[in-house]
Amino acid sequence: MEILPSGQIKPMLATYGSPLYVYNEAILKNNITRLRQAFPQARLYHFTPSNRCPGILRIMRRHMDGMTATTPLGAQRALRYFAPRQVIVSGSNYSRTDFLTLLAIPGLRINCNSLEELRQVAQMQAGRGVGVRIDTGVKARVYAKEGEMDITLAQVSALENIDVKIEMIHCYAGTAQSNHNLVDSANTLCETVLRYPQVFTHLKAINIAGGIEFDDLTGTSPDVADYGRQVSALIENLQTRLGRPLHLILEPGRIIMASTASLYCHINQVYEKSGQPMIGIDATRFQFGDLSKFGKLDEDASFAIGLYDEQGAMITHFSEQCAGTVPLGIHGNTHYSKDRVKGVFVYPEDIPRLKGGLFEIKYAGAYASSMTSAWADREMPAEVLYAAQGKITVLELRQHVRDVILSRIEKAQRGLRHGTLAATVAGLLLVSFFMLGTGAGNHREASKTRAQFNAYAPVLSAEEPLSTMPAKRVLHKTNYE
Ligand SMILES: Cc1ncc(COP(=O)(O)O)c(C=O)c1O
Repeated sequence: MEILPSGQIKPMLATYGSPLYVYNEAILKNNITRLRQAFPQARLYHFTPSNRCPGILRIMRRHMDGMTATTPLGAQRALRYFAPRQVIVSGSNYSRTDFLTLLAIPGLRINCNSLEELRQVAQMQAGRGVGVRIDTGVKARVYAKEGEMDITLAQVSALENIDVKIEMIHCYAGTAQSNHNLVDSANTLCETVLRYPQVFTHLKAINIAGGIEFDDLTGTSPDVADYGRQVSALIENLQTRLGRPLHLILEPGRIIMASTASLYCHINQVYEKSGQPMIGIDATRFQFGDLSKFGKLDEDASFAIGLYDEQGAMITHFSEQCAGTVPLGIHGNTHYSKDRVKGVFVYPEDIPRLKGGLFEIKYAGAYASSMTSAWADREMPAEVLYAAQGKITVLELRQHVRDVILSRIEKAQRGLRHGTLAATVAGLLLVSFFMLGTGAGNHREASKTRAQFNAYAPVLSAEEPLSTMPAKRVLHKTNYE
């Protein structure tokens, strides 16, 4: 299903700016419904790092059962939409301040990563209810190397001696290459609970993060109903063996969000380089999110993009060179050498149609806007929702980088105006220190002999006047061992 009728892309960009994230409400609701049907007994928590656009979070408040965050600030964000007992924080390597912030919120569910973290919690709030994040050993595409984080299976017995109540057992099932990660992870968690009953006497919930893959290149996903049947059977068996009910909490990120949005932008330039047609698009790959992060767009972009002419008519493209097609170079609007995507082939006769045309990055609903940066001072795109009967709701306004810069300057100025005398003095000291430092630095630089830079400059000989100096290679290639 397309995100937006393609004839509407151009007017939308004219109204909201290019690039633009467009979410499709019907797809979002369908994705949630599909998971609900597959896991009728589960509570579904939205994973906020996958998408934290306030407008999306408002929808999630209505359709999901809770939210998961990974940082104290993320927890504060989630608490705007859900009560503390419906918010889980599953982060890593918390500082003492992080823990103090989190523990001050009664009812908030905190998953701890290591025995050290659990001991810290026990010291700060003895007997507190917590979750434990277990390394199930199930290999995933995106996962830290064994032992780098999470409590290993061999460490589970040691949990008994820490003064906390373990109310939740949790793992990240990864974003699988194997279709069995979710099921395998659920199985290992259930086995762990049964193997160490003394550790899990207070257990209330099994909490599995991720584990339902979405191919963000082709837009395909697994048979979630089958996953649902298998995981339900495991949890039911565990409940029967324990003789008490447990909650199953799932934290689907990409399987719900990825297919809900596209990033659209203008094609700014159409040109040719060494005989190859190229287009320059009005977006950077830092706005494409996860897709480019995993390097797939370096070779296989064709599946994940759309090309349209000025009116929004689709331009056919291929993932492989077939008869009569030529490779199309696609570059983003920064100078970063990797700001490009590859693996797109088009018919040469279509190239003139790309002038003034439109570009789409598909599956940009998860880890895209949430991971976008304003790097190189490119503005953060606006985000809009396309709903039934073509109704458009603005979720997030386009953020002009100038506003970010101004707000920072203003904040610093306000700090000096309204801050304490100490802050003002500290600020002034900092500025004078900086100026003195810069002055001294300049002075030092000025008095340095330039000889040390000569290695990179052409050697001028007295006999050779500058104007007639032969062009020669100045920078020699360095060989790094
Ligand atoms: C704690 C937690 N929950 C949920 C998710 C969502 O995973 P996915 O997007 O693969 O579904 C992640 C992913 O990193 C995670 O770390």
